[in-house]
Parts: sequence; structure tokens; C-alpha cells
Amino acid sequence: MSMNIAIDGPAGAGKSTIAKKLAKELGFIYVDTGAMYRAMAYYFLTNGIASSDEAKIAEACQDVDVTIAYENNEQQVILNGKNVNGFIRTEEVGNMASATSVYPVVRTKLVELQRKLAESTDVIMDGRDIGTCVLPKAQVKIYLTAGSKTRAQRRYDELTAKGVSCDFDEIEKDIIDRDYRDMHRETSPLKQAEDAVLVDSSEMDIDEVVEAIRSIYEEKKGC
Ligand code: DC
Repeated sequence: MSMNIAIDGPAGAGKSTIAKKLAKELGFIYVDTGAMYRAMAYYFLTNGIASSDEAKIAEACQDVDVTIAYENNEQQVILNGKNVNGFIRTEEVGNMASATSVYPVVRTKLVELQRKLAESTDVIMDGRDIGTCVLPKAQVKIYLTAGSKTRAQRRYDELTAKGVSCDFDEIEKDIIDRDYRDMHRETSPLKQAEDAVLVDSSEMDIDEVVEAIRSIYEEKKGC
């Protein structure tokens, strides 16, 4: 049986950075499920489909094929045969992903792909519903969070370092709005699974978080 580590939590908690690092250390495959919702959102945006138009979204889901591939150990999302990794990291796509991931038709499609990936491979999968819905039997479940100010500051620093001018208050508001939507949707809302371990990274650096999760994993593995 494959070993599955599920990491859930709100936007900007550091899930992908930490999951990537830990996956490398443990020799696991890292699966970024947010990137799949982003790829779908990118399709809706480029085809002029509004996030409120559930009928069009359902129709579009039949035309969309999302798969993933790995290049130099980095996950690539392939949308209808095209690698869209370079297009899905914008705030616009992130907000569209949050808005359209509320629809069961979108989720069913991606959850099926995610479960298949974890079936026969040791994975660290991050997202919002991995421990509660996608991999309820994952051997290790982590709920990784941090205060909204800390998460906004990290995002602000990241953008500023890239030379993108941005407004701190706007970033924080965006994060709070996204949290609210992800936590209050009807289907698979973001919440801590009952058997997940809570890790608050507000006062921790990346290596400390990786170490904390690694020791939770080692402990479970030893059981
Ligand atoms: O993790 P991220 O910021 O790339 O995710 C973008 C959006 O996709 C997020 O706001 C909600 C949605 N999402 C989801 O509903 N379920 C997941 N497992 C992962 C992401």
C-alpha cells in the first residue's frame, strides 16, 4: 500500500513550499491539487465563462482534460494537451479557482484524478480537502495554517521580491475573502480533519515546519 501524506490549509500558509521540500527529502511525489483547480479556472477565464455560470461550467468540464506530468521533479499541469504551468500563478486565476471550485462538477473531476495518483505512489498531496475528502485514509494528515497578517506579509514579500508593486491591505483582504469562500462552500469546505495534526507556522521558518511534519511522519511510520 502506498504512503499518503495530506496537507491542507488556507492560502499562503506555505503548504506547497513545505510539501515540495519534504517530498524531496522522503523521495515522495508532490501533488499540488490547487494547480489543477487553477488550470480549470484558466480554461474558464480564457473561454469567457463567468464564475457564476454553473451551466456553462458544467458543459465546459466535459471538454476539459486535466492531467499532470513531471519535468525535473516539478509538477506540470497539462490542460487539453498544453502545459499551462506558466499561466496559472496569477491572483486572477487564484481567485477564479476559489470561485469555481465550489461546484461539485469541477471537484468530482479533479478528485478522481487525485485519488488515482495516490493509489499506487507515495505522495504528499496538498490542498483544501485532501484529509477530509480526497484521501480520508491518508496515514499522515496535517492542517497547516498561519495568521492572515503573516500570510499576507509572505505574499507581499514574494511579490515585491519579483518587482511587482502591490498593496499590503489589498493582499490581506484578498486572502481573508478567499479563506471565507474556501471554508464556507457547501462541497468539501476547507476544515481540519478530525485526525489531522494542527501546525501553526506563524512563528516558524520553512525548515522548522518541514522538520515538525517530518517527525510526525516518522512517528506514524513507526507505529
Ligand atoms: O492552493 P491554491 O491557492 O493554488 O488553490 C487555489 C484555489 O483552488 C483555492 O482557493 C481553492 C481551490 N482548491 C480547492 O478547492 N481544493 C483543493 N484541494 C485545492 C485548491
